[in-house]
Amino acid sequence: MSTVAAYDPDKEIPRHIAIIMDGNGRWAKSRDLPRRDGHRAGAESVEECLKACGDIGVEYLTLYAFSSENWKRPEAEVSALMGLLALFLREKLPLLMENGIRLKVIGEIDRLPDSNRKALLKTMEKTSGNDRLVLSVALSYGSREEIVRATKKLMVEAKEGKVSPEALNPDMFANYLDTAGTPDPDLLIRTSGEFRISNFLLWQISYSEIHITDVFWPDFRRPNLEAAIADYQRRHRRYGGL
Ligand code: IPE
Ligand code: IPE
Ligand code: MG
Repeated sequence: MSTVAAYDPDKEIPRHIAIIMDGNGRWAKSRDLPRRDGHRAGAESVEECLKACGDIGVEYLTLYAFSSENWKRPEAEVSALMGLLALFLREKLPLLMENGIRLKVIGEIDRLPDSNRKALLKTMEKTSGNDRLVLSVALSYGSREEIVRATKKLMVEAKEGKVSPEALNPDMFANYLDTAGTPDPDLLIRTSGEFRISNFLLWQISYSEIHITDVFWPDFRRPNLEAAIADYQRRHRRYGGL
């Protein structure tokens, strides 16, 4: 599915791409390496995708980096992932600045270690003026949790008389989600061949086109991204119409 014709720069480019970056562990296992090495190699794929998205003209990239459910993994793996996040934030600020990338985070940032949270806030602040590509990283993110958080906020505001139940509609509800202000993904990519959503952006992907590739995330490179875009360009988005 991921090896066919190149994308056409003159055709519609997905404005927002969301990626479930999966398969780091299996990539490492297939090389007899520790899982951690798979995550480290995955960081290179992130860097390549960031540059490619900017070049291609994608405006929003959302990356699923750590799910609410990933807290269930062994402590050593969670720490390795948090360590890699810290390293990425320390080393990649120039990359973000040079490529006009603005960093945002979705998910329960309060559950992250203090040092990670501070580094994220600092990077968000430093990149807040960048306007070429918005990178949203999903960290401690679960879509059901996000929807419940949004609903709680709305209920509090309703109790205080700030919003009325009659006024509530889908567009308004979307403003209470972590992704407020970001258009819905046009294209959702999942690597490593799994056909599931794993609690990612359930609300936002209502009408996203889905591209699944067998490639493990650490092997995902610019040609794979371009193949996904080419696949997207062959779709006919009907939104329920004709
Ligand atoms: C994706 O790779 C990264 C995270 C979920 C943090 P995995 O770690 O899930 O790799 P597999 O699925 O076990 O191969
Ligand atoms: C989804 O991958 C989460 C991320 C890519 C961060 P998982 O590997 O956690 O998902 P499952 O367990 O296969 O559904
Ligand atoms: Mg996985």
